[in-house]
Amino acid sequence: MIMVTARVWSPRRTAGGERPNPLAAEVRVVTRRALRVPVDNERIQSVYDRIAGAYARTVARVEAPSKRRALSVLDLQAGERVLSAGCGPGLTLPHLAARVGAAGSVVALDAAPGMLAEARAHCRRHGVAPRVSFVRGDMRRLPLPAASLDAVFAADVLELFGRADLETVRAELFRVLAPGGRLCVVTMDMHDVPESPFLQAYEWAYQRIPGFALVGCRPIDARGHLEAAGFEIETVERDSRPGGWPVVTILARKPASGD
Ligand SMILES: C[S@@+](CC[C@H](N)C(=O)[O-])C[C@H]1O[C@@H](n2cnc3c(N)ncnc32)[C@H](O)[C@@H]1O
Repeated sequence: MIMVTARVWSPRRTAGGERPNPLAAEVRVVTRRALRVPVDNERIQSVYDRIAGAYARTVARVEAPSKRRALSVLDLQAGERVLSAGCGPGLTLPHLAARVGAAGSVVALDAAPGMLAEARAHCRRHGVAPRVSFVRGDMRRLPLPAASLDAVFAADVLELFGRADLETVRAELFRVLAPGGRLCVVTMDMHDVPESPFLQAYEWAYQRIPGFALVGCRPIDARGHLEAAGFEIETVERDSRPGGWPVVTILARKPASGD
């Protein structure tokens, strides 16, 4: 966190008659990596489990266009090993399976059994279920060996972790990628815009409107987190979803010499 403090001259006397210190009033500008909102990932998992069917038919479809763009940024190749982290209802899994082909492999991981059931059904409808491994697991403890993947796709999931958990998750994503492997992240964004009116309104709603925080997503500084984990940032594309929600697509790479 970077904190800049500016001081402002105030000439009036105080109620007690003494002249105030000219350096008394402070204007503080704070750059930060997350909103001041509580995030309970366990509770979020159980919410997503309960709403899996409805989520698949509504939100996941509205958000699909920004994910199609992210998939082209990830640019999977035949034979690659890819993980969809927090795969949800799995609308992108048929694309992943088609791109890596029979020589590649796809792992679809989610903490919510309801979401995995939706994902499996979606893959069956597209005839790719036998080519996808469905894994119930937690992104804070990925049940995968180190350096076992060429690519990870993580859409709309990093924003569901509090700061400490996110540090664990970003380290896990780094661990499971092979040197030179790439990570494509889509997330609500706050990098470089930490005090925008949208974010202030979002933070206010999160704290004051009952139920607003149930699905847990909030803007994060994803770029800052990925750099802190050791990733090299290759591309950053900013966009907004209906309602003006800032979203970013980031392609990051584990350095070829990384462990
Ligand atoms: C907003 S949904 C996005 C789903 C999917 N990536 C998509 O783009 O449609 C977030 C998903 O992350 C999953 N999730 C939340 N916390 C998780 C955790 N700790 N480990 C694995 N998955 C998690 C939820 O169950 C949910 O399916």
